[in-house]
Amino acid sequence: MTFSISAQDQQSKARTGTLTTDHGPIHTPIFMPVGTAGTVKAVHQRELETDVQAEIILGNTYHLYLRPGLDVLSQAGGLHKFNGWSHPILTDSGGYQVYSLSNTRKIKEEGVTFKSHIDGSTHRFTPEGVMDIQRTIGADIIMAFDECTPYPCEYGYARQSMEMTHRWLDRCIGRFDATEGYYGYQQTLFPIVQGSTYPDLRRQSAEFIASKEREGNAIGGLAVGEPAEEMYKTIELVNEILPVDKPRYLMGVGTPANILEAIALGVDMFDCVMPTRNARHGILFTTEGIMNLKNEKWSRDFSPIDAGLGGYASTFYTKAYLRHLFKAEEILAAQIASLHNLTFYLWLVRQARVHIDAGDYVTWKNEMVERLMRRL
Ligand code: GUN
Repeated sequence: MTFSISAQDQQSKARTGTLTTDHGPIHTPIFMPVGTAGTVKAVHQRELETDVQAEIILGNTYHLYLRPGLDVLSQAGGLHKFNGWSHPILTDSGGYQVYSLSNTRKIKEEGVTFKSHIDGSTHRFTPEGVMDIQRTIGADIIMAFDECTPYPCEYGYARQSMEMTHRWLDRCIGRFDATEGYYGYQQTLFPIVQGSTYPDLRRQSAEFIASKEREGNAIGGLAVGEPAEEMYKTIELVNEILPVDKPRYLMGVGTPANILEAIALGVDMFDCVMPTRNARHGILFTTEGIMNLKNEKWSRDFSPIDAGLGGYASTFYTKAYLRHLFKAEEILAAQIASLHNLTFYLWLVRQARVHIDAGDYVTWKNEMVERLMRRL
């Protein structure tokens, strides 16, 4: 994998670049739609390519390991072959899902023992095991096994947890570097900065992660309930330390405003369930602000969902029709809304790239943040 920076904003840390994988290029800053179980919920691969113009999607080790399982995935020839997505894929390590989804879990130095949220069966994830699983899934970018601490988090716990995440990282690197991918293309391993909201821990973690000299680095443990300002301060501090010439991935973030602010702080990659999950609940992100399609006020609004955005779902269907589909609990409601929200998120990062390249990113960003977060 290679990363080249094409433009650096003069008023902020924002930059544009290209990350090149064996499954093609990724233009940064980029948003990565979440495809937890090997599918971006309610959106076809063809729509992801043509309408959304997604360049990379996410998968989750935790879900894919439990279902369909590694036998099926390896026999299929990896996740790309299994789901037909021929562009880059990134898998999260399970270091987050184990904590948020499994019924019971025991964290020890060796690894995490947990019960499946599907059938209650017991499993163990270790740093080495999670590398092997992600080799079998076959994503282009794979993540280190970490612990994502909750917010608020007591200092002592945050420190111990961060130190364990660092020891786990050394084990991940040991295993990753001693193995090869199964499917004839390169994979790369991104380590994850932790340390809760404590500046000294974040500094220590960023220095440790930077010292590993991997091809890209991630910031975890954020957007877990802390105020946005606290998140921005943490990103700023960490990005002072993470190398400028490597891609920086902010995990699980966020709202359109969060993404634009984090781009200004030098973040290159984002993922979040927000556009797809909110879509399924009738919440739409548009170029004019945020809409709750279930509100009565849209029942006779026969204008397109978002004429300003363009794209199929956003211009072909009307607000009133989509509201009707939500009220009638029709499956098409989730499909149209998900397609619209993802088209919007990818439009947003493309616009960000245009304005970074043009040299007016901060002015544009300040205007957009205000506009996009209005409640319609
Ligand atoms: N997704 C969102 N936050 C995190 C995190 O801290 N760690 C991992 N592995 N995934 C995440």
